[in-house]
Amino acid sequence: MTYKIAVLPGDGIGNDVMDAAKIVLDKINLDAEYLHGDVGWEFWCKEGNPLPERTITLLKESDCCLFGAITSKPKEEAAKELAPHLRDTGLSYYSPIVAMRQLFGLYVNMRPCKSYQGNPLNYRDDIDIVVFRENTEGLYAGVEFHPVPDQVRTALSVHAKMAAFKDVANEDMAISCRIFTRKGCQRIVRAAFEYAKKFNRKTVTVIEKPNVIRETSGLMIREARNIAREYPDIEMWETNVDAMAMWLIKNPQDYSVLVTSNLFGDIISDLCAQLVGGLGFASAANMSESFAVFEPTHGSAPKYAGQHKVNPTAMLLAVKLMLDWLGEKEDARALEQAIATVVKEGRFRTYDMGGTSSTLEVAQEVANKL
Ligand code: NAI
Ligand code: MG
Repeated sequence: MTYKIAVLPGDGIGNDVMDAAKIVLDKINLDAEYLHGDVGWEFWCKEGNPLPERTITLLKESDCCLFGAITSKPKEEAAKELAPHLRDTGLSYYSPIVAMRQLFGLYVNMRPCKSYQGNPLNYRDDIDIVVFRENTEGLYAGVEFHPVPDQVRTALSVHAKMAAFKDVANEDMAISCRIFTRKGCQRIVRAAFEYAKKFNRKTVTVIEKPNVIRETSGLMIREARNIAREYPDIEMWETNVDAMAMWLIKNPQDYSVLVTSNLFGDIISDLCAQLVGGLGFASAANMSESFAVFEPTHGSAPKYAGQHKVNPTAMLLAVKLMLDWLGEKEDARALEQAIATVVKEGRFRTYDMGGTSSTLEVAQEVANKL
């Protein structure tokens, strides 16, 4: 069966690194059809929609999606850059990647952070962490208020602690809700344990803050303890998110699979990424049972756009994750090996690694090793 893969380069260096991905995919010669989709700032400005309906249709017809990066800007700036005929029509900018996660229920954000030998940017050479970040709820669910409507204040007044805010005016208060569901907690924790089981990992660390954020973090921890019982061969560790930031700097080599909610996962996974080379090496898989979007975690880096200067490794590792997800294990393994060899030999390095090679030269060298 020929795979249908939606290719969404997006903005800026999203295009540069997608060119690199194509070099490697051509070499792998996967039985796949690559379908280009429009996404990003250009389509916000021209059409008032950064994720046009035709792209959503394309995604629905595809097996999975390879995503580059997009530019996003604050509300006021976004409004100003709209085409004149679209201004003041009530349109408001939203992040297409967040929209895709919600639209397709991509509740797992998996970010592998592994130090490849010979990478001069490694913090240590023995790090092999995989972060599972809940991707659809928590503080990023988007349930926010400013000014806070009267009904919301009235509803919240059932909580005794709201008395502390009784003299604050509605417009002087902003509320962002941290919503956890039992199902949401269960499925992200289960994804982490299933991964640990499949890849023979010994520990899963659940990262929350239940001593202070009692209800949401508490729910996550209780559900995690229940699920952990089903995996007697895997040890579950519980760590508060603040302490985790310290432990990851002190002893990152001790950790294996990490699982946490949306905001904490966003922060912790960036920390982990920097331990193994930073944005040029950080890839992510956004997954549900039936669909997935693979991306480098960096943004569109406008100052390097179109120069083929940035490191394609994060994107190539995203391709590796895609191959794994499609079940093309041999190609995935070979691609990771090729990337590791190029890093180790150090003959082709982009600027961030102290080299002068271009994005495409690095990709070509990876292809040569395949
Ligand atoms: P960024 O990730 O685009 O770039 C920050 C800096 O990191 C760059 O200037 C560059 O020095 C370095 N960098 C990034 N990717 C690199 C690579 N592959 N190789 C070598 N160096 C690399 O983040 P920034 O500047 O904060 O955001 C730029 C735009 O990207 C903004 O509009 C932002 O909203 C958007 N963004 C989009 C994301 C996405 O598409 N998932 C994620 C993060 C930011
Ligand atoms: Mg982030």
